[in-house]
Amino acid sequence: MRLSGFFSLDSDHVLISCILCWSSRILGTLLPSRVKKKEDLSVNADVPVLHFSQAKHNLCSPQYFWKYSEVLEMAALHTFLKSNQQTIPGLHSDTQENCPLTPGKLKLERSSYVSRLWNRWCLTSITWAKIFVWGFVLVALMAGFLFKLILINHRVVPTNSWGGLSWQMQIKHSCHTKREGGLVVLVTGGAGFVGTHVSLALKKRGDGVLGLDNFNNYYDPLLKRSRQQLLKRHGIFVVEGDINEEILLKMLFDLVTFTHVMHLAAQAGVRYALENPASYVNSNIAGLVKVFEACKSANPQPSIVWASSSSVYGLNAKVPFTESDRTDQPASLYAATKKAGEEIAHTYNHIYGLSITGLRFFTVYGPWGRPDMAYFSFTKNILQGRPITIYQGANESNLARDFTYIDDIVQGCVAALDTAEKSTGSGGKKLRPAALRVYNLGNTSPVSVPTLVNIIEQLLKVKAIRKIVRMPQNGDVPYTHANVTLARTELGYNPTTDLRSGLKKFVKWYLSYHNEGITI
Ligand SMILES: NC(=O)c1ccc[n+]([C@@H]2O[C@H](COP(=O)([O-])OP(=O)(O)OC[C@H]3O[C@@H](n4cnc5c(N)ncnc54)[C@H](O)[C@@H]3O)[C@@H](O)[C@H]2O)c1
Repeated sequence: MRLSGFFSLDSDHVLISCILCWSSRILGTLLPSRVKKKEDLSVNADVPVLHFSQAKHNLCSPQYFWKYSEVLEMAALHTFLKSNQQTIPGLHSDTQENCPLTPGKLKLERSSYVSRLWNRWCLTSITWAKIFVWGFVLVALMAGFLFKLILINHRVVPTNSWGGLSWQMQIKHSCHTKREGGLVVLVTGGAGFVGTHVSLALKKRGDGVLGLDNFNNYYDPLLKRSRQQLLKRHGIFVVEGDINEEILLKMLFDLVTFTHVMHLAAQAGVRYALENPASYVNSNIAGLVKVFEACKSANPQPSIVWASSSSVYGLNAKVPFTESDRTDQPASLYAATKKAGEEIAHTYNHIYGLSITGLRFFTVYGPWGRPDMAYFSFTKNILQGRPITIYQGANESNLARDFTYIDDIVQGCVAALDTAEKSTGSGGKKLRPAALRVYNLGNTSPVSVPTLVNIIEQLLKVKAIRKIVRMPQNGDVPYTHANVTLARTELGYNPTTDLRSGLKKFVKWYLSYHNEGITI
């Protein structure tokens, strides 16, 4: 049996097993040989058969040691094949079938001429050349394994943008508070739409703010870079990194005592889940857990405010949506990950005493907004003279959203940070119960999508080319409407911007950002 294509297999499992096997071969080579004659060796038999028991009894003889190591090697390969449900290119299928699941009778394939020569050479008496060759092979395998380990570690070890004195200084400077009792806030998703606005608002009133963002390309990363520049001009540093990088999170928490974490980093958008579902699980579930883990281990633990979504109401038909309404019917994977996030928040609050506030945002819009959202893409397409697609629900009903202007959302976020109770855990242990809250942050007056288009047309003074189509099964819901009574009472949340006023500010920003040369 030969391991054709061995090095193309990306499996530490096989690599480690083979290091062990090759080590056993070297040992076998070193052992005194009792049998030297060719006919004593069964490797040239048509179908050589080896029993494990036989191998055990004759371990002192090099030929059985050799074959025993082949058995180990084959077993390792077999385990790999079974666990990965795959075959190795270049290895005969019957050879793969010959790998037994349990120790016992093992059929070795009939060796080729080259392989017979190889085996014969291997089974002759001890020579220093053989020791050298096996030793070399072992060292090469171990070197390969170490090299791979280094490569793997390299992916999580600080890269060009992490670490160093200047990097640490920028972080410290960004986190410096300019008012007494100022908060020190880590804003994940800091170069995102909401993250940028919240960071600016906090900095403006004298809080210390540090952004963290991976600048992914879900939408134009240049827009995120522009926001980063805007933040930089206001003394806010955005660390480039992923919330899944535990080492980075630990470095940040070691460097700064954050009083609060505003967790906004997420894979947003409902329809993109059909294309890239893993990104939602990676950022919205795994990433959320990493952030909670870092917070739970910090001493003192920060209070957390994080972005859930109105999408958790899913197929709920009772309007307006109230926090106590059912949220167990998500209509999209995005919604499901946000709902999962709320449950995970409950767990970390319950076990570790983290103070956690979840905010269910309702369709946020405004300057520096997200290009994947309807109001943004409609504006772009209308200006470019391209048709816009307007979805309709059942019975040609119009979709409607509780569009909420970014300034109102920022006011709600800051109020949630200000009213958040302290976390109660220490050293990863809960000392007493901590606060767990969830609030709707919406505008409370849903507007239909055709009305949204009318307003944009009027602001741009350009007629839209409308393409009306039936809403596909893509995770969208027909209607959202927030009840914000709880946020009003407990946070003092008070949305004040109507859609026309908010869109006017957005369009103004859009035109200047894109140098359209049009004024409104
Ligand atoms: N904008 C809305 O209408 C709306 C509605 C409901 C909920 N939300 C939620 O609010 C939050 C902010 O939304 P937004 O509109 O600003 O979206 P956004 O995409 O503009 O911002 C999210 C930012 O997080 C970053 N990010 C994503 N995954 C990351 C990761 N693994 N590590 C580090 N950074 C990562 C992205 O690069 C992006 O800059 C999100 O959690 C979103 O789900 C937004």
